[in-house]
Amino acid sequence: MNSNSAKPVLLIVMDGWGMGSGGPEDAIAQSSTPVFDRLWSSCAHTTLMTHGPFVGLPAKKDMGGSEVGHLTMGAGEILDQGPTRINKAIADGSFFDSEALKQVMATGDEGGTIHLIGLLSDGNIHSHLDHFQSLINHAFERGIKSLRVHALFDGRDVGIQTAQKFVCELEEDFTFINSHEGFNYHFASGGGRERIVMDRDRDWAKVEEGWNLMVHGKGRHHFPSMMAAINHFRSEKPDLIDQDMEGFVVVDEADHPVGAMQDGDAVVMVNFRGDRAIEITEAFELVDFDGFDRGNRPDVLYAGMMVYDEDRNLPKLQLMGPTKVDNPFGRRILNLGIKQFRLTETQKYPHVTFFFNGGYRQPLDPAMEDYILIPSDKKVSFADAPAMKANEIADKAVELIESDQYGFGLINFANADMVGHCGMMAPAIKAIETVDAAVGRIVDALEKAGGKALITADHGNAEEMLVFAKDGAQEASTKHSINPVPCILFDPTYDGSYNLRQPDDEQTIETKPGLAHLAATLFEMMGQQVPDDIYPSLIVRN
Ligand code: 3PG
Ligand code: CO
Repeated sequence: MNSNSAKPVLLIVMDGWGMGSGGPEDAIAQSSTPVFDRLWSSCAHTTLMTHGPFVGLPAKKDMGGSEVGHLTMGAGEILDQGPTRINKAIADGSFFDSEALKQVMATGDEGGTIHLIGLLSDGNIHSHLDHFQSLINHAFERGIKSLRVHALFDGRDVGIQTAQKFVCELEEDFTFINSHEGFNYHFASGGGRERIVMDRDRDWAKVEEGWNLMVHGKGRHHFPSMMAAINHFRSEKPDLIDQDMEGFVVVDEADHPVGAMQDGDAVVMVNFRGDRAIEITEAFELVDFDGFDRGNRPDVLYAGMMVYDEDRNLPKLQLMGPTKVDNPFGRRILNLGIKQFRLTETQKYPHVTFFFNGGYRQPLDPAMEDYILIPSDKKVSFADAPAMKANEIADKAVELIESDQYGFGLINFANADMVGHCGMMAPAIKAIETVDAAVGRIVDALEKAGGKALITADHGNAEEMLVFAKDGAQEASTKHSINPVPCILFDPTYDGSYNLRQPDDEQTIETKPGLAHLAATLFEMMGQQVPDDIYPSLIVRN
């Protein structure tokens, strides 16, 4: 293909834009979306599954996420995702045979404390409580005497005030274990994931605060227990979302931290997802590190649940190997000589690169791949800046389309997801309307260039901003949904001669329209042969 005369085919991901009920919880239905409405009524369209087994997650009702969504779109097939692979390895016992876990346990055998750090949640987006419990039980059965958990509270992939549920489950485990002579297993520190540690925008102050709490046992707030901390912060602010809880240290009667890290200890980052685990991993592992002053750094053995940065092999010790995509979409079209771009803002940059590529972060051939990053707003709540960088992304997309160089481009608009995660209706509406207008500018430019686009989402979120209890009580929802997402094939030459496959009850997990079918659909839109080792295209010729 002559890249100078390419007709661009785009994959536009409106992150967090699901098909809602149209009810009071549905911010998308309450938004004015003239572009979406026009495209939906004039273009071939369908809806896609993005959750549970449709993206390789273990449980039927596991929400999809941007990691698994982009990985599945890039793979063109359903692959077992990190948590599925971990669960299988735990079930067949191979999880406990890894060299990395043996080294961790060996430090415990030698009298070191094992510290588990990570998101205490069953959201299965970044982590799962079961994985904490498997590690804790394994350590106990091995006879390891001392273990600490440094817990990040979620409220973003689960209900907004659920921290106490997960805390109590582990407290029960600890009570049982500590009833055995010589064992001391405890929580040592805590705090909301948006306040400490799980940053992905180089906002080092958040990582530093978490580091000081977990590693040095230093922080402004001291509590005798996790529940004392949770009760304290909730009494100050009854509607506090767990993700926003301030960080704290658990202390003994003498006000000493119960879990500061010492030379000879081991640390396991229990999160399996990389984007929000990289920065703390850098702090633990890098010799030359300028994120913040780490103070007197204890000599600990550090391991992560999975690889967080494949290009730099971070962390060095991984309990599980990476989920491998042998031949991701980006590599396949590179091999066909098609020039491509990826475009988004910082918050979703790993998704359109690392996750969509099934592992690699940098272009394989910089002459044929442009990965364009628009810096996200820093130190704001996206509820206060719901336009995020959608307009800048649209500006750049128009420029790239007009350059006549690209045969493929992947664009992600983060707004409906990131603002959806704040749990507030008015900003979510603003976010959606901004994305709608931005998509409108892109399709106009595509029309002039003779291009096409698949316009879809990796999972729902903003169409479900409230959840309702059985008694009718309602609560803000910050998490993703398991609703299907729209999928529109924008084609200015559309003459009705094809449609997109519709979901029906006869279909299987593999055949129901889902994110795994997009790669083949894109090949067909590009006029390329669809590879026979991926799931089939959604295009049905009439
Ligand atoms: C987050 O990391 O913000 C959420 O847990 C998941 O969001 P994402 O999967 O849409 O990035
Ligand atoms: Co999200």
